[in-house]
Parts: sequence; C-alpha cells; structure tokens
Amino acid sequence: MNIYIAGKTVVALLYPLFKAVQVYDINNNVVISSAQKFMSGIGELLETFSSLEFIRYRDYVFFNKQRLKYEIDSYSNLQFMNTQLKALNIKSITFKRGVTQQEVIDFANIFKEDRASFQKLLGEKNFQHIAIELLKTEKEPEEPIENGQMTKRTYFKALKVTKNLMQNLWTGRPVDVKSSRRVIYGLVDSISRDEFGILALTTIKNFDEYTFNHSLNVGILALALGQRIGLDRKNLARLGTSGILHDIGKVEISKELINKIQKLTDQEWETLKLHSNYGVREILKTRGLDETSMFAIAVAYQHHWNYDGTGYPLREKEDEPTLFSRIVRICDSYDAMTTARGYQPVPYLPHFALRVIWSNQNRLFDPILAKVFTQLLGIYPVGSCLELSNGEIGVVMRQNPSAIDMPNVKIVVDSNNNKIDGRMVDLASHTEIKIIRPTYPQIYGVNPAAYFL
Ligand SMILES: [Fe+2]
Ligand SMILES: [Fe+2]
Repeated sequence: MNIYIAGKTVVALLYPLFKAVQVYDINNNVVISSAQKFMSGIGELLETFSSLEFIRYRDYVFFNKQRLKYEIDSYSNLQFMNTQLKALNIKSITFKRGVTQQEVIDFANIFKEDRASFQKLLGEKNFQHIAIELLKTEKEPEEPIENGQMTKRTYFKALKVTKNLMQNLWTGRPVDVKSSRRVIYGLVDSISRDEFGILALTTIKNFDEYTFNHSLNVGILALALGQRIGLDRKNLARLGTSGILHDIGKVEISKELINKIQKLTDQEWETLKLHSNYGVREILKTRGLDETSMFAIAVAYQHHWNYDGTGYPLREKEDEPTLFSRIVRICDSYDAMTTARGYQPVPYLPHFALRVIWSNQNRLFDPILAKVFTQLLGIYPVGSCLELSNGEIGVVMRQNPSAIDMPNVKIVVDSNNNKIDGRMVDLASHTEIKIIRPTYPQIYGVNPAAYFL
C-alpha cells in the first residue's frame, strides 16, 4: 500500500474511534469495536512502516511525510484531525510497533479533552507506543517541505507558457500543446503539494493581459476543484490543460472588441459568443493532437453551457456538458467576476462572487461542484480584504479548513489608517478580533496579490 493511501486509511479508522469516545464510555461496545478495527487496520501497516507518524503543519496533515489532501471522501476525517491537533497544540502523533488496543483507547479518550486537561492526562498516562510531540510555542513550526518558492516558480513558468501559446495562435504560428505538458504536470504537483499557496497566486489579475492571467487562473482553480473531487494525475493534467485553453477561441476575435469598455451591441455580442466555436478550430490547429486535446475541445465549446440547458452555443436538449466543462464553467465565472476589466472597472469582492455562484447553482452551475468550490475557497477567499473589529485591515493569506469563517490574515493597514507591513493573525485563535465586513482593497491602496509574491 502506498503511503498516501495508508495515511488516508489510518485517519479513516481513527475518526470513528475518536467520535465514539466522545459519546460512549470507554468500555462500550462501539468504542471497543472501532478500536479493534483500528488495530487490525494498522497491524498490517506497522509491518510495512516502522511507525505511523502524523504531523500537523499549518492546516495540512502529513502522514509519514506525505501531505494528505482534502478530498471529498476524507474531508471530514481530515478536518476533524486538523482541528483537534490544533486545539490541543499537538505537532505530531506517532504510533509505534507494539502499540496495544488499550493504549489506543486511552489515547482516544484523552484526545477529546481540552488543551489543559489533555496535557495533564498525557503526563499521567505516559504512553509507551504512542509518541506525542507538542508545539513549543503558539507559533507555527518550520515548514517541513520547501513550498513557497517552488510554487511561485511553477506559477510564473506556467504564465509564460500560456502567453507563448496564445501569442503564437494569435499570430498564426504553429503551436505544440504537448510541449506545455511539463508545465501542466508542474501545476498538478503544486496543487497536491501546496493547494492554498498556488490558489493564492490566482489573485494576481493583470488588467492588460487579462486573457493570459485569466486563462491560467481558470486552469489552476479547475485543478484545485478537480483535486477535491478526487481526480487522478492524468485527469488533472487534462483538466488543467482544458482550463487554460478554454477561451483560446478569443484569438480569432479582434482585441478592440474583447477589450471594449462600452456596452456591446447585439451584433458585437453575437460575435463575441463565437469564441466557443472558434476554440474548437484553434485547438484542432495545434500539433500533436491527442486525447487531452479532445477534452480541451469539449471544454472550449461547452464552457458557456449552463446547468439548466441554456447558454451558448445553442444545443440540443439532451446534450450535456462534460464534467470538465461544468468545472470550468464555475472557475471561469468566478475569475471573471473577481477581475477588473473595461466594462467592470470595480471587480466583485471574492466573497460576493462566491455568493453569486452559490445562489446560481442548479440554474447556471452544477450544484455539487458549486458546493465543493465554495468549500474550497472558504467564506472569505484568499486575497480578500477584511475590516476587523480592532480597526485594522487584513488580507486573507490562508484558510483555516477547520474554521472557514476565521481565516489567517496579514495586517496591512493599522487602526490609524496607515499602510503597514504588519503581523499575521490567525482569527481562529484570536477570537477577540472579529470580522466586521469584507472591503475593497482599492480604498486603502492595497494590492492583495503583492503579499503572495
Ligand atoms: Fe469564454
Ligand atoms: Fe473565460
């Protein structure tokens, strides 16, 4: 069994046990039987691995050094684990060979306590085969793997490739989509390594180059959503490529029309809509057509198809958009709403754009995907600017998967209205500071994207 599957399995076995001791006495059958299941599950694993180690870093849980992803089937298990480790100030838990059922039950039983009693009981119990390491300070530990720089490098490499690809198509030069494969897999790896880090970079919106950043952002958002619903690497690569190419048909439309600030005439609107059809033609023009191209063609054609059967290009009633097209439909709308453009000089605030997506599920968007998307971005997506009850302004830097209404923010404006390079505040641990409302960064001359670079 690979490490990742093993990690997911152990978390899935621990969760019912932790839940059982919250409700029942430790001698109850429910507790005993979930402990037995846990024991038989880890018995095999402890033959392969010498120990089973969970580390919490930021809001990620690592199992034997491999990060466990928040996926649909494991979301609540992992969220519970993360929340509880954080509440108890635990850095790591290690189950060692020789661990007994009684130890596991005793451990589960103190794991439900609050921080003070947990630490006291931990000292008394002195587990032989379960090692618990506490965080020394409230401060987060050093990063176990080097993430940030790598993620940024991947983003900018991908941006360059996206630009080249579109510019070549624009000028009628031959394009080979296959050569962008390395970059796509780079993005896929970034998503699995540092989902929140790469998502933060989608707050980079470059007005002049709307289409490049937009295309890449849609690709990244789609990848993040795809990962949450459990797509494998190969399908993620196809999805990422399709996301990046979704608007490729726009290369056949004049830049004046695409960037027009005034309201479009009916005729102009009809012309613009044709980018869905043109997209098919543009992808067919690329060299080395393969299966991935076929997925991208469907997305280019269908990404303005709505869930309720409306949208363009016109279609037969029974024509259904592909899964990838439904994913891109959401990510495309979200990125478009949150980006300033000629006809929309002030973009929607991220939380508001999410609300639009939420309230249009069933009509425009696939309801299940809309829910997963909302869960992925949180209530205040990364890059949101928040007015706080202490008079300061913070930019959301990271979500708390365990408390989506209390993210981690960086203070960027002090209570006297001065722009500062302030501290990081975890609103889940500083409940004395409340969020008053999301606000426009433009009011304070703040560019949220700058804090991620
Ligand atoms: Fe489009
Ligand atoms: Fe688009």
